[in-house]
Amino acid sequence: MRIAVVGSGYVGLVAGACFADLGHEVVLVDNDAQKVAALESGSVPIHEQFLPELLERHQGSRLTFSGNLAKAVRASSAIFVAVGTPPNDAGEADLSYVESVAREVAGAINGYKVVVEKSTVPVYTSNWVRTIMLRNGAEPESFDVASNPEFLREGTAVTDFLYPDRIVLGADHERCAAVLREIYAPLTSGKYYQRPDAVPAPERANVPPPLIVTSAKSAELIKHASNAFLAMKISFVNAVASICESVGADVQQVCQGIGSDSRIGKRFLNPGIGYGGSCFPKDLTAFRAVARECGYEFRLLDEVIRINEEQRHRFLRKVRSALWTLRGKRLGVLGLAFKGGTDDIRESPAVLLVQTLLQEGCTVAAYDPAAMDRARVVLPANVNYVSDPYEAASGADALLILTEWEEFAALDLPRLRVRLKYPIIIDGRNLYHPETMTAHGFTYYSVGRQTTTPEVISSAGADSKKIKVKNA
Ligand code: UDX
Ligand code: UDX
Repeated sequence: MRIAVVGSGYVGLVAGACFADLGHEVVLVDNDAQKVAALESGSVPIHEQFLPELLERHQGSRLTFSGNLAKAVRASSAIFVAVGTPPNDAGEADLSYVESVAREVAGAINGYKVVVEKSTVPVYTSNWVRTIMLRNGAEPESFDVASNPEFLREGTAVTDFLYPDRIVLGADHERCAAVLREIYAPLTSGKYYQRPDAVPAPERANVPPPLIVTSAKSAELIKHASNAFLAMKISFVNAVASICESVGADVQQVCQGIGSDSRIGKRFLNPGIGYGGSCFPKDLTAFRAVARECGYEFRLLDEVIRINEEQRHRFLRKVRSALWTLRGKRLGVLGLAFKGGTDDIRESPAVLLVQTLLQEGCTVAAYDPAAMDRARVVLPANVNYVSDPYEAASGADALLILTEWEEFAALDLPRLRVRLKYPIIIDGRNLYHPETMTAHGFTYYSVGRQTTTPEVISSAGADSKKIKVKNA
């Protein structure tokens, strides 16, 4: 199948590279000439596992880059639209990029085409894309508009694409569904997974993935409702974590208990400093705006958003309660990305926290395995970027863990302890057991668990100091 993918951001680039790996001929179109030139020269603009390998494997053969949308449309049977849908001031998705792509596609049609929404868009967008294309001269029979939402997580986007839990096809006509079925046939038939050069399967791969065919409107709602539900799960557990802190319960134990119910599930039940990223915050406000426009006040989403913001304030209160005053305090910060495994800092709660701490007069030494270059662009110049976690801890009044990078969960604790001015760790991602931290001599703050501090008891002699865990 010949496919055009419009927009080479996270979604478009990953989709394009993966479609090529499924055996399709893909042209990836972007109106940013610099981006196209960079991709053509072999650079990989995002930090994403397996993406460099796939780009290298297919670039110049099954995968090409172009700035010419009309030409790409003429050469393709399916056009996937993956341009940005950023929020406007009212929180609604700004669909002007989608509209301009629809206009241009309409002007270039030379035979039956399937136009597929891949960006996250509100319900009714497929209707609007159809209307815009008709207004711009496309014949009614010459195209269909479908919705094929993407459920990829940054960091694992390639495996999420190739090993999805499900593939959702929102198509109102069978001829259009047939084109999409053919595109995904290598996955749904299981053939892709038999290839020796297939991208390796992640844990819990659902192979072959089921195909769910729905109306276009249902598919549009599936995307918004999925992201809203996942965000709700995170806010729910963050609210439960706050209660755990008040009563002296342990949120990790509570999560184990509730997550073991298969109706609830263990995933996306990790408490923290709130969700961030380019999707959840934007999609929640967009879904709320869509619901309102349809006459439904989705107040549950207001609360999900409120709890998420409150989670950052709670963390800040923890820093204050650990250090008493903030002005002039030196803080080590581990993690700037909105989550582990990515260099993306869009709506990163870690970045928002660092900004507030700087405003409060703290000095910050920050380390992130991938996101420091991007953070430099948005954070004030006085942040000191360092090259490893121990340097971040060096001479610090406390160390803050803000992103769940795997390497932050495997620190050399004795080495860390001697670097810190005071052995205080404030962990916004619950990466350690409180007992382990106290055994290593740290006062340890985490989320939804009691703060623990070592109590040094001098018994017989100066050399026989025992450490006892005490709830602070
Ligand atoms: C975006 C949306 O934020 C997300 O909701 C949606 O699901 C997919 O698109 P992302 O891929 O991360 O996610 O967006 P972004 O990094 O902004 O990439 C969009 C690309 O489209 C950019 O490379 C931009 O240059 C390009 N673009 C934008 C076009 O080619 N044409 C346009 O008219 C507008
Ligand atoms: C999300 C959705 O998971 C994906 O299906 C959708 O298509 C795009 O948006 P992404 O934004 O890449 O993906 O990240 P995700 O892994 O979902 O994490 C989002 C945020 O929630 C991060 O800030 C993360 O730290 C936080 N999170 C996630 C928690 O705080 N707790 C959890 O249990 C899970």
